[in-house]
Amino acid sequence: MIAKQRPAYAEWLQSTNNISQQFLAFGGRADVVSLAGGLPAAELYPVAAIQAATERALTRHGTAALEYGAIEGFPALRQLIAARVSAETGGTFTAANVLVTTGSMQALDLIGKVLLDAGDLIVAQSPTYLGALDSWRPRGPRYHKLDWEGEDAGFTTALAQAKFGYSVPNYSNPTGVLVSQDRRAALLDKVIAAGTWLVEDDPYQSIQLDGPPGPSILSQYAARHAGPYDGPVIYLGTLSKSLVPGLRVGWVIAAPGMIQTLALAKQASDLSSSMFTHAVALELLEQNFDQEHGRSIVPHYRERRDALCDEASRRLADWFDWEVPVGGMFVWMRNRDRTIDTDELYRFAVEEKVAFVPSSVFDFTGEDRFAMRVNFTRSSPEVIREGMRRLERAIGNYCSARPQLSGLRP
Ligand SMILES: Cc1ncc(COP(=O)(O)O)c(C=O)c1O
Repeated sequence: MIAKQRPAYAEWLQSTNNISQQFLAFGGRADVVSLAGGLPAAELYPVAAIQAATERALTRHGTAALEYGAIEGFPALRQLIAARVSAETGGTFTAANVLVTTGSMQALDLIGKVLLDAGDLIVAQSPTYLGALDSWRPRGPRYHKLDWEGEDAGFTTALAQAKFGYSVPNYSNPTGVLVSQDRRAALLDKVIAAGTWLVEDDPYQSIQLDGPPGPSILSQYAARHAGPYDGPVIYLGTLSKSLVPGLRVGWVIAAPGMIQTLALAKQASDLSSSMFTHAVALELLEQNFDQEHGRSIVPHYRERRDALCDEASRRLADWFDWEVPVGGMFVWMRNRDRTIDTDELYRFAVEEKVAFVPSSVFDFTGEDRFAMRVNFTRSSPEVIREGMRRLERAIGNYCSARPQLSGLRP
């Protein structure tokens, strides 16, 4: 009997890529220097503290920590997060403003589910976090670039038509850029005037390498509006970068109506997050352990950033420009004269056993192929320096393989 052809996969899959899977796989290969993922340093993970918190959580909550739980999250954890956000922003937030999610990645997914219909418009910073692009791809959204400079005449109209704006103002992924307070305020004004939502994605807030970043856009809103929070900012937090990604604990802070709507979508997504990891997170957050740990890892990350920028200055400066980031996990390197296509360079880099992320995956259109994101948090300074040496060799090989570029070799 001839087997019948099985149904095709959904169409949106033709426009996606598996680059995140590739990076995570590289992380597990000892022979590859992976400067690709946005991963913390595993050797700094506080294993003993998490073990002790797990013991305490099970003793304190027993079977409640092992149940399906409230879709919005472990109630005590929601309350604690609300109290923290109130203290940090000076606003009034309650558990009704909090949804605990499976990392902030799930929050991005749920936001897409509740706000986007096919072909809707999103105003997003460009380049954009690739996980956000991935999570909204099934809806086939259109994008308009978020205009920080106030130079785009069509921006106000675009914002008014958009379902939401999306930004990572603290040490952005992929560029590492810290958005100034003035620009945050100007964006907030425009979002309020446009009557749309603004997703403020803030996983890197704790990685302050050269001083604090100043108030979030959520804080700016709270400072202007007294009373229970009901504003347009949908703020995303996570323990992934300040503590460990493996707990998969993130949260959304938003107007109560938005939280209820996201919870409705979450019901169909996972029925319930892990109450177990919520209970463990509660133990840690009650002692402010995440903040203490977050501060303790910063000097290590600063040393790694400096090692990367120092070695890159010696080896890559003929081809790439970059700004030293004041926080976060990434250096964004732009090819100086657009002669190096980083999609192509990536193949040469993998041959030399070093990985970065090419810019095309952060671009709405996939057309920007002239930059790369390089991570400095995952590897030791020595490994980072070795990565830069391999990258230099890869660029040399790439240039030799393309005769018209051979003049670029140092
Ligand atoms: C900008 C941004 N948002 C969200 C996430 C997802 O983080 P989480 O581990 O909390 O799902 C990341 C992870 O790298 C990120 O860089």
